[in-house]
Amino acid sequence: MQGDIKMVKRYRFGSPIETEAVLHKPDITERECEWLKKSEDGFFCRLPQETIVYGLGESIRGINKRGWLYRSFCSDEPEHREDKQSLYGAHNFLLLSGDVYRKEDTEDALPEQKNIGFFFDTPGEIVFDIGYTKRDRMEITFSDFDLELYVMEGESPDEVVSAFRELIGRSYIPPKWAFGYGQSRWSYETADDVRKVAEEHKRLKLPLDSVYLDIAYMERYKDFTIDEKNFGDFDSLVKEMKENRIHLVPIIDAGVKIEEGYDVYEEGKEKGYFCKDENGEDFTVGVWPGKCHFPDMLNEEARHWFGDKYHLLTDRGIDGFWNDMNEPAIFYSEKHLKKVFDRIDELKKENLDVDTYFEMTGLVAGSSNNLEDHKSFYHQYSEMPGEDRIRHDKVHNLYGYYMTRAAAEAFEELVPEKRILLFSRASYIGMHRYGGIWQGDNMSWWSHLLLNIKMMPSLNMCGFLYTGADLGGFGADVTEDLLIRFLSFGIFTPLMRNHSALGTRRQELYLFEKKEEILGVLKMRYRLLPYLYSEFMKAALRGTMMFRPLGFVYREDRIARQTEDQLLLGEELMLAPVHEQNQGGRPVYLPERMKFLRFRKGELLEEEVLERGYTFVEMPLGDICIFLREGHKLPLAESASHRNFENTEDVDYDNLVFCEFGDEIPDYEYYSDDGETKEYSLEKNIRML
Ligand code: NOJ
Repeated sequence: MQGDIKMVKRYRFGSPIETEAVLHKPDITERECEWLKKSEDGFFCRLPQETIVYGLGESIRGINKRGWLYRSFCSDEPEHREDKQSLYGAHNFLLLSGDVYRKEDTEDALPEQKNIGFFFDTPGEIVFDIGYTKRDRMEITFSDFDLELYVMEGESPDEVVSAFRELIGRSYIPPKWAFGYGQSRWSYETADDVRKVAEEHKRLKLPLDSVYLDIAYMERYKDFTIDEKNFGDFDSLVKEMKENRIHLVPIIDAGVKIEEGYDVYEEGKEKGYFCKDENGEDFTVGVWPGKCHFPDMLNEEARHWFGDKYHLLTDRGIDGFWNDMNEPAIFYSEKHLKKVFDRIDELKKENLDVDTYFEMTGLVAGSSNNLEDHKSFYHQYSEMPGEDRIRHDKVHNLYGYYMTRAAAEAFEELVPEKRILLFSRASYIGMHRYGGIWQGDNMSWWSHLLLNIKMMPSLNMCGFLYTGADLGGFGADVTEDLLIRFLSFGIFTPLMRNHSALGTRRQELYLFEKKEEILGVLKMRYRLLPYLYSEFMKAALRGTMMFRPLGFVYREDRIARQTEDQLLLGEELMLAPVHEQNQGGRPVYLPERMKFLRFRKGELLEEEVLERGYTFVEMPLGDICIFLREGHKLPLAESASHRNFENTEDVDYDNLVFCEFGDEIPDYEYYSDDGETKEYSLEKNIRML
């Protein structure tokens, strides 16, 4: 359903900074917003007991965001724990569904049943207190109360989302191969490490579409360089991989190393393209390579210059990238570190007691991602032509967005015909047009599998469709069962990548014992690809969601509204992943009669109609369990036993088989295209099957 732009209201407060998040802006409404009361530095409203607050994209906790305080400030946060307030993205969209009071309502007024969306468009910090301080009150405060507020009303949550997505423009579309399985590790240290991954996958017939290059491929972590010692034969590596139909996807970091003779540094310095400190000197921070400068991604000229550098890799046959550390992450700033060292010198002389000991440990830990540092550098923001410069913290949430935009805009010039895989760690709404995101440094924890599930619909609302978590978990040591469960959900997410951190247990699939089960799960991904790609493309081109909370569809069903660990995928499917250890199955809530489909080793093994209500479903490791809604069908690539999938190119998108449920099943709207060029068109590429 297309959102009706007429139902969107736009309000202005103070002197907002342009973010370029919204493409289609309605006229500014002069009247006051009906739903939010103004406070000194923000807004507040009443929150009736049963009202659900959806939104906030990439953030911790539930699909329903009630009961916590969230801080919108892109953060390099490797610990996605419940007590945190921010992750890497700043996605300032909320959707209230249920009872809502008008702001002038008195205590005895009756609320109205509503679905209302709010987008708070401002690049600085926002605090969303969603029933945290007071259970029945929402309070939103801004460090700078300058923003554009967009308010959308709809008959359903879906309608609100469509209206919002129409404002912010079409989501990024990757090449089709980017829906295949990707293997990553921080880091494959040599070209031979990469070859080994490809060989092992081939030997065990495990499909593989991409291998990711983390920071070790660069020469001393310098962007757009190749380490001669360990990746000296880079061109032949790319070629060999290409022959095996495997794409290499290198990482690009935000910080540019300060090093005489390093051309990117020399050029950036000479042209004045780096962020400046308060004295107008290039601001110095420490990241992977040691001392670095940040390219001023907000300055259009600098952004084009940085984006153009990607050609050094596209010229060598690279067609996928991931942009990292672009919150931007700061280990330390030169200025702050000096203060830390000076104080430690003083502390050295003391008998460290409870105060001074913890002061000392805090000093070192607090030197990274320190707010003082974010307040110590400046941009020349092209969207503020009259202004001399703007302090970073005021536009903080735009940095990763504009870095990714730099790359995407460059690709339009470098390879205009071709889709390039691009995703980022930090993001702001608006960036969804330029690239996807991965969900950052999760852990090999069961709770993070659940977090992955919950984040999918929230991200989809905000336009981030191409997304997924590090399958198996990034930090900490994985166990085989967790890896298989992560994969069993990950086969449904557009980005399906296994990535893990330095120092943790190796997580490559071929290292585990349950090879049959792992192979079966992966085969299922490739059988699902025609459906997943079709659903992805329809969601992107129509501005809808691929993953939805149950409450979006079963709006009158209290249990469905409260279900947080099951999702709807497209119009057809419900997913209920196992997300706890030692569980051979799980209770599943069926909000309506559905057909249960069990796949093992990529083949349909069992189907059974299940009635509405709770039921316990056996889900042994390796089985893929899907619930098909009545009146729908699920298209699948032909059986994996007839075809051996090595990668996405082996999927036959034309010969499909169907699982069906119901007497009268309307045709499935099947979207299919070449997956490489940009000839997207619903009219041309949809077939009714
Ligand atoms: C942080 C990223 O989140 C992670 O995925 C990556 O492996 C490390 N940086 C090293 O580049």
